[in-house]
Amino acid sequence: MKIKIRSRRLLVAVASLVAAGCVASEHTPQATTQVVESTQQPRIVADSRIAAGRYLVRVGGCNDCHTPGYMQNPSAIPESQWLTGVPLGWQGPWGTTYAGNLRLLVHQIDQEAWVKYLHTRTARPPMPWTAVNAMSDEDLRAMYVYIKSLGPAGELAPAYVPPGEEPKTPFLQLSPVMPKSKPACDACSAPATQP
Ligand code: HEC
Repeated sequence: MKIKIRSRRLLVAVASLVAAGCVASEHTPQATTQVVESTQQPRIVADSRIAAGRYLVRVGGCNDCHTPGYMQNPSAIPESQWLTGVPLGWQGPWGTTYAGNLRLLVHQIDQEAWVKYLHTRTARPPMPWTAVNAMSDEDLRAMYVYIKSLGPAGELAPAYVPPGEEPKTPFLQLSPVMPKSKPACDACSAPATQP
């Protein structure tokens, strides 16, 4: 991956370190690590937004839940099927949720709405909302551009089913089971019920 320095401040800082002889080549045995401060939000730097977005989707684990069959056998699933949503429910005290079709979603909302949605939505488990909420604007934009580049595909995932109602699809039961022989453990409670 080609690394580009986008921040002017960072570039100036690196240039002055080089001038001061502080930055050694990576091939020099005595090379030391320099920490360079930047005021910009952290973000992935890649050759293109599509490459950055693809990388973020892969390391963010999005395919595990949003791509059919990926959790079972990732290498067997072609990229053309990534993020098309999975009709297997995740049931817990919050009801039953479905990892939606992101390929259709990016064609329903524009980039600004996507950034706002992923920054502010705090809905139900097991979607890692807090992790996605914390992503920088630039990384969310890269993700949007990448997912959109794959084109629309697949069907809409089933709608959320509230607690106490029976889902019409298979689902995973995620409520913790406490063994009778052991005392309850505070850290073992089910994830909080979210709005
Ligand atoms: C552990 C499983 C899991 C993982 C990993 C996961 N998701 Fe989700 N995602 C879900 C579930 C379940 C929902 C539905 C949540 C709800 O109903 O509130 C969801 C919902 C969403 C939605 C809203 C869909 C809509 O139609 O409104 C977006 C956007 C989303 N996820 C993006 C991502 C991204 C981006 C990643 C990777 C960084 C990711 N998800 C990783 C399970 C997951």
